[in-house]
Amino acid sequence: MNKSIFITGANAGIGKDVARQLALLDTTEKIYMGCRNMRKAETAKKELESITGKDIFEIVQIDVSDLSSVRAAVKSLKEPFDALVMNAGGTGGKNFNEVNHNGVMQQFSVNVLGHVVLAEELIKAGKLKKVALYAGSEAARGVKSFGMKRPSFKSHSVEEFSSVVDGSFFGKNKDEMVPYGPVKYLAALWMASLSREYPEIRFITMSPGGTTGTEVANTLSPIKKTMMTGMMKMMEVFGRVHKLEVGARRFVDGINDPTLESGVFYASKSGITGQIVDQGTLFNDFHNVVYQNNARESIHRFIN
Ligand SMILES: NC(=O)c1ccc[n+]([C@@H]2O[C@H](COP(=O)([O-])OP(=O)(O)OC[C@H]3O[C@@H](n4cnc5c(N)ncnc54)[C@H](OP(=O)(O)O)[C@@H]3O)[C@@H](O)[C@H]2O)c1
Repeated sequence: MNKSIFITGANAGIGKDVARQLALLDTTEKIYMGCRNMRKAETAKKELESITGKDIFEIVQIDVSDLSSVRAAVKSLKEPFDALVMNAGGTGGKNFNEVNHNGVMQQFSVNVLGHVVLAEELIKAGKLKKVALYAGSEAARGVKSFGMKRPSFKSHSVEEFSSVVDGSFFGKNKDEMVPYGPVKYLAALWMASLSREYPEIRFITMSPGGTTGTEVANTLSPIKKTMMTGMMKMMEVFGRVHKLEVGARRFVDGINDPTLESGVFYASKSGITGQIVDQGTLFNDFHNVVYQNNARESIHRFIN
């Protein structure tokens, strides 16, 4: 079991409930709450202390879309810890398709780039001991029944994957859900490539599945927010998505269950809820070592 865990985006939604569930385990001694907004982080910390009766939470300021903030967070951690949960992310806000000073599309930056620097620099500094979990999504393999297309590439080359990182792959697209699948696809491939380089650490990509009760729709336009929230509520009634604690439980199991294999991307077998399976058995891109290496190299082109 993991005694000390660092969770990004721990002040809301799934990340906060992962912190709550882990704190209730007798084996957990320390939870680092990686948050960008100190006011929200303090409020969440007080709530978690009150709900769990545990005084084991420590806030670490980190904005995963800002590499200098990520590096400062790595430096600030004095003790090595057992598990890293890379949960911060989502659709990337109103300016999801803007390109930042790293030349990276905002949605990619929030979901992936900062986490790549975080995980790799923690490992190099000897600060991550056992397991890293990345918050994947079924969108990475496409879900026809939810209108999510399977990511499709011509060459799977470093060049082509780089165009996902900088957003040019998507042209003048204005829909934040179009890049979301390919962004999470590249992240799952990157995690698999790390598992081969660092066999002493377990790398698990895990989708929480369709999870209600989070703040993920808050950055959408009012119309889209109303539509998405309404759709999720209806889906919950029909058992096609699940509650917050079920989505968060997938991450808790992801870091604690030793039978889950390093390098594998786990998500729903069908739709976005229910049993989880290795997504490579549904979409064999995730097992392709060349694609994994190309994904990693394409991301590294943007890190300096
Ligand atoms: N909910 C679902 O159905 C679902 C399905 C598949 C995958 N996922 C993935 O699961 C993860 C959590 O989603 P959620 O539904 O719990 O979303 P959420 O309720 O919106 O929570 C996202 C968390 O990430 C933080 N965050 C966002 N940008 C950040 C940044 N630049 N630096 C640091 N923290 C940042 C947010 O902090 P602030 O409060 O400061 O914004 C918040 O704490 C995401 O990666 C999402 O893509 C969710």
